[in-house]
Amino acid sequence: METRAGDPGAFTRFDLGRVPSPCFVVDEAAVRRNLVVLRDVADRGGAKVLLALKAFSMWALADLVGQYLHGVCASGLWEARLAREHYHGELTTYAPAYRAQDLPEILKLSDTVIFNSPAQIARFAGLIAEARARGDSFEIGLRLNPEHSEALVAKYDPSAPGSRLGFPVSQLRPEHLQGVDGLHIHALCEQGFEPLRRLWDALEPRIGGLLGGLKWLNLGGGHHITRADYAREDLVAFLRQLTERHGLEVYLEPGEAIALDAGILVGEILDIFDNGPRVAITDISATCHMPDVLEAPYRPAMLHEPENGAPKTGVSVRLGGPSCLAGDIIGDYAFAPPPVPGTRIAFLDQAHYSMVKTTTFNGVPLPAIALWNSDTDVLRLVRAFDYRDFRDRLS
Ligand SMILES: Cc1ncc(COP(=O)(O)O)c(C=O)c1O
Repeated sequence: METRAGDPGAFTRFDLGRVPSPCFVVDEAAVRRNLVVLRDVADRGGAKVLLALKAFSMWALADLVGQYLHGVCASGLWEARLAREHYHGELTTYAPAYRAQDLPEILKLSDTVIFNSPAQIARFAGLIAEARARGDSFEIGLRLNPEHSEALVAKYDPSAPGSRLGFPVSQLRPEHLQGVDGLHIHALCEQGFEPLRRLWDALEPRIGGLLGGLKWLNLGGGHHITRADYAREDLVAFLRQLTERHGLEVYLEPGEAIALDAGILVGEILDIFDNGPRVAITDISATCHMPDVLEAPYRPAMLHEPENGAPKTGVSVRLGGPSCLAGDIIGDYAFAPPPVPGTRIAFLDQAHYSMVKTTTFNGVPLPAIALWNSDTDVLRLVRAFDYRDFRDRLS
């Protein structure tokens, strides 16, 4: 899988020696630039934009997010709690299934709770009624599987055959929408505007007649709206048209787009030797710190790499992590001059879906988290982790 981001932005002038290693460094100014773009699209399109916490929940920036977006969306109880403790605005919660013991608190915290099937809404009708009787105020949504694939990789395609995500549109009947305020569709992944248009063109004839009784339509995430080549004017026109034609409030809930190209993961070369390719062990682990590198898989771009992978000048080095996993390999990278133990490196576009996914497998330390403002050059170490963070999750 190709990574579509990887613009170093202001990080080209960031001194990697300013932070401990390993360390995520997030550029607050870059996040703000993304938020400005999203707010502009929301305003001109007449839509609301929520941050998907699953992608980027560095709550040190919650106030900044709140200045621009209409709220956040959570994937379950813990993200919903985080949202209410730190973030601002509306809270929408969606999970593929809820546990009965979590749902009352989720209903209390959330403005909107989206269910994956009419069966769950029916099963939890008692809890929903009790929550309302207690005075909790929330709307109910249903996630639809549009049964139309646009995602390029099956693993990231919620519409793939046999998918567990969303109620298949082919099974939807008007009675399933009893007590439902809105529909939710999430079927894209790191995509431009055209896939969204195709998705809607395929879906609208199937559900258009049912939209009249609803208050809102949530078009999920996967929209790479802040990428330079995204057709934002087309999106604005599409959102306007949708709202006008169906009289609905339209929501988008991107995650990546908020933090796109806004953070790096800084690490250090620990050892280097020859084994056919030149191999280096780093204190960044693909499996512990950037699991999508192995899961997607993809090759993260490296800051200051003179050429991609196979250099005409300099050397190619296979970078891997300190864990026992033979496949804990980040990729082959060009260096000029050759790196030595102690050389600092950084992988680009690591603010989203990395920080939220880290583990301490093998007792590998968690990266610290730093906030940098590329406009003012102010740097703040937000969080450093130690042995106790590893120990206390194990017994
Ligand atoms: C339901 C839902 N909404 C929003 C998102 C955010 O998507 P992205 O970060 O790709 O914009 C996801 C990501 O998987 C999702 O599953």
